[in-house]
Amino acid sequence: MYPWSGTPAAPGSLSGIVSRGANAPSDSARLPNPSALRWLWQERRTSTLSLDQSGVWRFRDLLPVVKNFDHVVTLREGNTPLYEMPRCAAIAGIDWLLAKHQGMNPTGSFKDTGMTAALSVASERGFEWVACASTGNTSAAMAAYAARAGLRSIVFIPEGKIAWGKLSQSMDYGALTVQLKTDFDGCVKILTELVRRFPIYLLNSVNPYRLEGQKTPAFEMVEQLEWQVPENVIVPGGNLANGAALGKGFAEMKHLGLIPRVPRISVVQAAGANPLYRAMQDSNGDRLEPVVAETRASAIRIGSPASWKKTVEILRSTGGWVEQATEQEIALAKAQIGAEGIGCEPASAVTLAGLKKFVAQGKITREERVVILLTGHTLKDSEYTIKYHRGELLHDDELAGAAPSERAEHTALLRPPVVLEADVDVVLRELETRMNAARSIQLV
Ligand code: F0G
Repeated sequence: MYPWSGTPAAPGSLSGIVSRGANAPSDSARLPNPSALRWLWQERRTSTLSLDQSGVWRFRDLLPVVKNFDHVVTLREGNTPLYEMPRCAAIAGIDWLLAKHQGMNPTGSFKDTGMTAALSVASERGFEWVACASTGNTSAAMAAYAARAGLRSIVFIPEGKIAWGKLSQSMDYGALTVQLKTDFDGCVKILTELVRRFPIYLLNSVNPYRLEGQKTPAFEMVEQLEWQVPENVIVPGGNLANGAALGKGFAEMKHLGLIPRVPRISVVQAAGANPLYRAMQDSNGDRLEPVVAETRASAIRIGSPASWKKTVEILRSTGGWVEQATEQEIALAKAQIGAEGIGCEPASAVTLAGLKKFVAQGKITREERVVILLTGHTLKDSEYTIKYHRGELLHDDELAGAAPSERAEHTALLRPPVVLEADVDVVLRELETRMNAARSIQLV
């Protein structure tokens, strides 16, 4: 029996070791055996304990979060698929592309992995109320986990600027949903004032326990790859916590000897909400000027990201880059991911748009292995998808900036619904025409 197996190990014991100086010899002597950890995490997959069934708490040996595991609030988050994306790989010009689909979490976004950790802390510390400001996914996740824990939640969201699917979730899970007539950055200001005056537990991404939970997809990813490390991991950038959290996860695994090296972690922002991209261009990440953010990828419509310094550190330590994607490029990438049968919300699609640029710039070569993080489920923002396929999303001036090949790809991808009389002859005639057209396109 390994010292940390069986009933949950004392939390923090191993994590204390992990977070100390990376090369201290006395530490290395106390580090757990990496093969034993791998074996233990694999074993837990067959367990019926809810703690083991969670793709976050399965890795609890590295989570300095709760004192007592009875306080854990879980919806069996994590355990998300790693999909092969051969068609998107070919489009980007590489041989090997996988998507870690964090949209397959219980509330449909990557936020669940952090929220299970932070809500468990709120519950353990006896808070009655929790609150966050959000572009929609954090609020959906927080509301769900608060409801599971029997806590009350308050959500601040920018009015009219979040996708309907996300708004409906916070109402469904019983949150007090406050739509403020401002943007995300304005919501954060009001929230900061609120938590100063009332005993409310703040669940924004600056909450350190959220980062702990959000590092676990890094563990899961390399476990799914049989402990191989891809050369590149690409994440979308909004408030800039996710890249930093994954970076922490990879660094801990390297320190423990679970992996020999860390991947290069790169971040892609929407061109209309690109403060990190600008900061890297202007000062190599030393200074960040907030911007007024505007993008249809509403999840990452953030002009003043809270965790930018942490992300700059990760970019520097892993050798990653930052790119930006225009509205047209995001829409095209999203449609290409959808056409591969995967689907994602617009913010997630910036990763593929950015990958195309990294390859075109010669930064990522054909043989390098790439994992993109798809952060949200396609049904989060179905209005965006419907508008795109009806040809109502992109304005002429946005399409005018596209290369001819990109315009042709948009045309080929559009799948507007067809409205027909419910008459067999009419339907058959229409289908025949369309099937012949599709066949002739294939023959060309
Ligand atoms: N992708 C999705 C789907 C998101 O919801 C977010 C952030 C991001 C990417 C960016 O991650 O902030 O760690 O850089 N959504 C937050 C929210 C801001 O309130 O739901 P990040």
